[in-house]
Amino acid sequence: MITHTSYGVEPWVLRESELHLGLLPQSESVFALANGHIGWRGNLDEGEPHGLPGSYLGGVYETHPLPYAEAGYGYPESGQTVINVTNGKIVRLLVDDEPFDLRYGRLRSHERVLDLRTGLLTRTCEWTSPAGSTVRVRSTRLVSFTQRAIAAVAYEVEPVDSRIRVVVQSELVANEQLPGRDGDPRAAIALQAPLEPEEHFAEGGRLRLVHRTRRSGLRVAAAADHTVTGPERTSVSSESSDDLARLTVTSVLEPGSALRLEKLVSYGWSGNRSLPALRDQADAALAAARHSGWRELADEQRAYLDDFWARADVEVDGDEEIQQAVRFALFHVLQAGARAEQRAIPAKGLTGSGYDGHAFWDTETFVLPLLTYTSPGAVAEALRWRQSTLPAARERAVQLGLRGAAFPWRTIAGSEGSAYWPAGTAAFHVNADIADAVVRYTAATGDTRFERDTGVELLTETARLWRSLGHHDPQGRFHIDGVTGPDEYSAVADDNTYTNLMARANLLAAADAVERHPRRAAELGVDEEESAAWRDAADAMHIPYNHELGVHEQHAGFTRYQRWDFTSTRPDQYPLMLHFPYFDIYRKQVVKQADLVLALYKCSPFFDEEHKARNFAYYEPLTVRDSSLSACCQAVIAAETGHPGLAYDYLVEAALMDLEDLEHNTRDGLHIASLAGTWTALVAGFGGLRHHGDTLEFAPRLPERLSRLAFSLEVLGRRLRVEIGQDAATYTLAAGEPLEIRHHREPLTVDADKPHSLPIPEQRPRPAPDQPPHRRPNSRG
Ligand code: BGC
Repeated sequence: MITHTSYGVEPWVLRESELHLGLLPQSESVFALANGHIGWRGNLDEGEPHGLPGSYLGGVYETHPLPYAEAGYGYPESGQTVINVTNGKIVRLLVDDEPFDLRYGRLRSHERVLDLRTGLLTRTCEWTSPAGSTVRVRSTRLVSFTQRAIAAVAYEVEPVDSRIRVVVQSELVANEQLPGRDGDPRAAIALQAPLEPEEHFAEGGRLRLVHRTRRSGLRVAAAADHTVTGPERTSVSSESSDDLARLTVTSVLEPGSALRLEKLVSYGWSGNRSLPALRDQADAALAAARHSGWRELADEQRAYLDDFWARADVEVDGDEEIQQAVRFALFHVLQAGARAEQRAIPAKGLTGSGYDGHAFWDTETFVLPLLTYTSPGAVAEALRWRQSTLPAARERAVQLGLRGAAFPWRTIAGSEGSAYWPAGTAAFHVNADIADAVVRYTAATGDTRFERDTGVELLTETARLWRSLGHHDPQGRFHIDGVTGPDEYSAVADDNTYTNLMARANLLAAADAVERHPRRAAELGVDEEESAAWRDAADAMHIPYNHELGVHEQHAGFTRYQRWDFTSTRPDQYPLMLHFPYFDIYRKQVVKQADLVLALYKCSPFFDEEHKARNFAYYEPLTVRDSSLSACCQAVIAAETGHPGLAYDYLVEAALMDLEDLEHNTRDGLHIASLAGTWTALVAGFGGLRHHGDTLEFAPRLPERLSRLAFSLEVLGRRLRVEIGQDAATYTLAAGEPLEIRHHREPLTVDADKPHSLPIPEQRPRPAPDQPPHRRPNSRG
């Protein structure tokens, strides 16, 4: 397990000062570079040793049959899994006949630095070969935000004390051998050799490999170009075969001299384009990158990130580790989504193959809110991706006997990839989560064109789904039965409160949107009767409530179930799903992850203050946090209901999920939703941000541990800066028309002339809620 002490605590960089081979799998995820289109795990340049070699392209997957012991109607027959595409990172080194391999010889120093402002990953090391030759190696890597098809490596080697002969091999390698699967269902199916060779090429410094996936029929091209600088008599040659294209550089280096290689790598892929067209695409991207050159690419990267940080930075005074962690989180969320451009944003981003590279509700519920207020363009693109998958979602709805669109629980290309019905297709709430993201994006940006072209269709098709999935009972109440909410430890249950409230918002938003866009509504075949039926269903939505306990039920009948036997459950039996049968988990009161508590946040106006407090106190002792998506939601409601210390502990858990490898599976890729949740815990938790309808509300309150929290939000073309101290909050508008907000329910007009400071009212303290034994978050707040 990585302990955070493996990395120094610095505000803008993540520094690993020593190499621990046992930690390589995790650090490959932590040091992954991506732009949403290309993802390179933080593998060592020389390729070995490794935990998991990983180079990914957003949307590139292979299909495989989904096996069932007992298949049923409507079970998806084919799954999709992300594949490790051609590896362009590899630069191998031979020092006086010895391969540079850290498992041999003596590693005198090794440092890796991920700089969150420059976007560069730098590695510096000194190594003495078993034969006694010492070299200094420095490599710098980037995956470009500005040229999305491009990644690059600058590699330098120099002798430390005596003359050495070096051979550097810069490669493109396809079909790398992957380690086997360890039985954890959250890991990926490793598909061996998924790429069929179509073309290989090497000439001078230029390399290219084109492959095609066997079943999904996607063509992938990777190309590289090099600039070599070295002493006289440095020689260069290149060669290629089906799965390997290689540039070989040979030189003799005297002390004081160095060999430098700049490698530009481009990727292109397509399900439609021909081999010549794709080859040209990869070459053209490379030509553009060559035109810029390494230096300019690095400068563009810095400028792109400067711009991002000006919009998105969150400043935290009082806990340096959290300051670093939130920037690390923001950086990785940006990397996951920045240039995804109408492709899925997977749960692991492009940092690993965990969950087979699938995108879940994580995207709309956790990632898009952050991006909405910091990089809204990426949100529009992500939702356009959902729109582009509507044909598959409509087909799935038909298959299920429903109307509208049934979006998949997990997918890469749009079709349902979950082979497990109860925690897959039955989790229909993903449809309302997509609608919620549409509504938030539109409210935050006022992008009416997006609403007309994309929003109305997504809202309509999801509203149709809810209307056909639910039914009115004889008393007129609307129920949605037999669904799974966010808590995957309850399944196929009736009237899940979160689902019903989110569906209600979905139905109303759809009815409002078609009124605003009558022409678009007519194109989609929506008439007044249909939208009236949506409103009726919304108005009659049943929300189960236990009058005796005075709490909302997670789903109808939930509070009547037997409680899970927490006292007999040993700490090593978590996560429960790996140690107990689902049938037993499903029929007990035990909550994997915030569900009703998530409803308290996402559907905030529905609950009064007293119910928020009572519900939170009821569900806390049942919630085991076997999903990394939980802590940030609990942080938000703990903060709102008067438990700032507990909220802080949950914030810390979300923030350090990967830096401390809390779930022991960071090796499979980063937990992007939890990273985004770090922002949520701070901005919605301690900043109290809620955005319902047109109202942007804040209810800021800091935990004792922090002396200041500051963040910015992009709202309706303006930048609002919020700075929170222990006693007062200050709202400043960078420029533009005045903005109406609320501060602890009081209306406030923020104009660009001056900062507005308002006092923070006292919060009513409440008795601390319990957590299940062994599941209390580490205390820090
Ligand atoms: C959670 C889901 C989540 C998935 C991917 C599961 O463990 O229960 O809510 O979507 O992980 O992050």
